[in-house]
Amino acid sequence: MIGRKIGEGGNSEVFEWGDDNKIIKLAKPNTSILALEREYRNNLMAWKMGLSVPKPYEIVEFDQRPGIVFERIYGETLKERLFNILIQQINADQLMTVWNDVRYTARLLSEIHHLSHEGIPPQREFLKRQIRSVGYLGEEEKSAIIDILDSFPIKSQICHGDPNPNNILMSNGKAVMIDWNDATSGNPETDLAEYIIMIRFAVLPSDTPQNVVNVFDSLREGIIDVFLDEYTLLTGTTYEEVEPWIIPIAARKLSADAISNKEKQLLVNEIRIGLRYKENKL
Ligand SMILES: Nc1ncnc2c1ncn2[C@@H]1O[C@H](COP(=O)(O)OP(=O)(O)O)[C@@H](O)[C@H]1O
Ligand SMILES: [Mg+2]
Repeated sequence: MIGRKIGEGGNSEVFEWGDDNKIIKLAKPNTSILALEREYRNNLMAWKMGLSVPKPYEIVEFDQRPGIVFERIYGETLKERLFNILIQQINADQLMTVWNDVRYTARLLSEIHHLSHEGIPPQREFLKRQIRSVGYLGEEEKSAIIDILDSFPIKSQICHGDPNPNNILMSNGKAVMIDWNDATSGNPETDLAEYIIMIRFAVLPSDTPQNVVNVFDSLREGIIDVFLDEYTLLTGTTYEEVEPWIIPIAARKLSADAISNKEKQLLVNEIRIGLRYKENKL
């Protein structure tokens, strides 16, 4: 039944499953059956609403690990596409591919944010729980961040929660969003802030060739600009509306298992600078 391993993320390993059209996402020990059930429900909801997502089939157990069986999406992740370009001498055509993939991300998010659904968890409490669980910040800092959150109006749009380039597959020219574990009903600025923070602060694995690190560094702010320009074009939402979300979302990101300590330190610095700046302005 189980075949070749075809992917991995912070919470799972992904294998071929049964016939050619299915995969199984098997949980890593950090991921509970409850989290998996939530992802299954969120993904099914997104699929039923006609979003560009794989069809989820069922929850099963394999080798004493819970897993979700999904439709297999043939294609590369946007992260693979980006790094395949970065390892070469990047030319104008390839740069255009990078910008277009970034635009696809903005478009996919705008389609998701356009919709709402009562069946997914409300965002605000989810965010607060994540922020309170963070060990890298003091209690006063966390309270100040939760006060910032409380100052924002509550919206109820579908948010993906983790729009990173590993969670988007390009299949026959179509972008497909996977990994719906963190989806909530709330303010779409959260997804935009998440994307901006990830591009701005991502620490690449230590075995990444130095020239790839350098080229990526030189593209970071360009990627953010292209992303926001496209999202603004599609929705009218501007960077000014997203900016206040950077501190709370950076704080929430400290609760993620998938990022390194080095990256967490960068986020802690950014949060502290932001909090001090806010305090001085008051
Ligand atoms: N439906 C799918 N079809 C093809 N590949 C997939 C599919 N789902 C996941 N993958 C691959 O497995 C990787 C990890 O999946 P993901 O759902 O993002 O797991 P995690 O929650 O651990 O991040 C993806 O980056 C992708 O390469
Ligand atoms: Mg993922």
